[in-house]
Amino acid sequence: MKKVGLGLILVSLAGCGSDKGPLKFSTPQKVINTLEVENKKDPTVENDKAYVQIKTSLFDTSCIKCHNPETALKRNRLDLTNRQNILDNFDDIIYRMTDAFDMGFDYMPPKGDPVSPALIKELKTWKADIHFANLQKNLFETSCLKCHGPTQTRHVDLTSKEVILKNFDDIVYRMTTAFEDNLKKPMPPKGKGEPVSPKLIEELKNWKNLAD
Ligand code: HEC
Ligand code: HEC
Repeated sequence: MKKVGLGLILVSLAGCGSDKGPLKFSTPQKVINTLEVENKKDPTVENDKAYVQIKTSLFDTSCIKCHNPETALKRNRLDLTNRQNILDNFDDIIYRMTDAFDMGFDYMPPKGDPVSPALIKELKTWKADIHFANLQKNLFETSCLKCHGPTQTRHVDLTSKEVILKNFDDIVYRMTTAFEDNLKKPMPPKGKGEPVSPKLIEELKNWKNLAD
């Protein structure tokens, strides 16, 4: 886990998208500055209001004292000032703030008040919404919205989070088992597009686990 965190920083520092070969840099200080600049320039960070909110209320308050670019470098620790790091290590981060307390070790923060359940929920919602945006683009827009858009009144509106959650089992069924048992029309209907890949269906299920 530690290696992953640092590896990501190094890759993002390379700046040219290349991850080939060892990265050379002169002084640690310079690296930290570069990282800060990279962070500020990242348009995703600026446009992601929910992230800015969660960064302030959760990570800045409870974590970054010990998890910042400097400790990442000196102690090989996860830099929690970096949005992508948080997404890439999401399950571990949640675990440390929740179940690890029951286990009695590895919990975070190691001292001071635990993060409130409300904030942890907010963090999960943030991640779920990012997932949902990706699913809208890669799954529903590609395979379903031609017939299931918000203006179609005869069929379920698959741009709506609530509608998708409410009809979840049927949606998954139509994209999977319905192709075999033919009890109900499979989706997308035969001849109206490629079946959705198992990987995307898996991602849809993961999203539901987060969003519920
Ligand atoms: C007082 C210092 C301190 C604070 C505050 C703190 N951590 Fe940590 N954290 C550590 C140390 C030390 C380790 C490495 C030891 C270990 O692996 O358990 C660590 C490890 C971790 C790891 C495993 C990856 C790694 O960097 O080794 C995660 C994930 C993590 N912390 C998340 C958090 C989160 C989330 C918060 C805020 C809610 C937080 N920590 C707050 C000191 C801290
Ligand atoms: C070419 C148009 C078309 C496309 C593309 C399409 N559907 Fe449908 N969908 C329909 C029609 C027509 C029905 C009604 C069929 C029936 O009664 O079983 C339907 C019904 C459904 C239903 C049952 C609820 C309802 O609205 O009647 C679900 C759930 C559904 N589709 C999901 C999907 C999903 C998920 C996708 C994308 C993977 C998709 N559909 C793609 C035309 C389409």
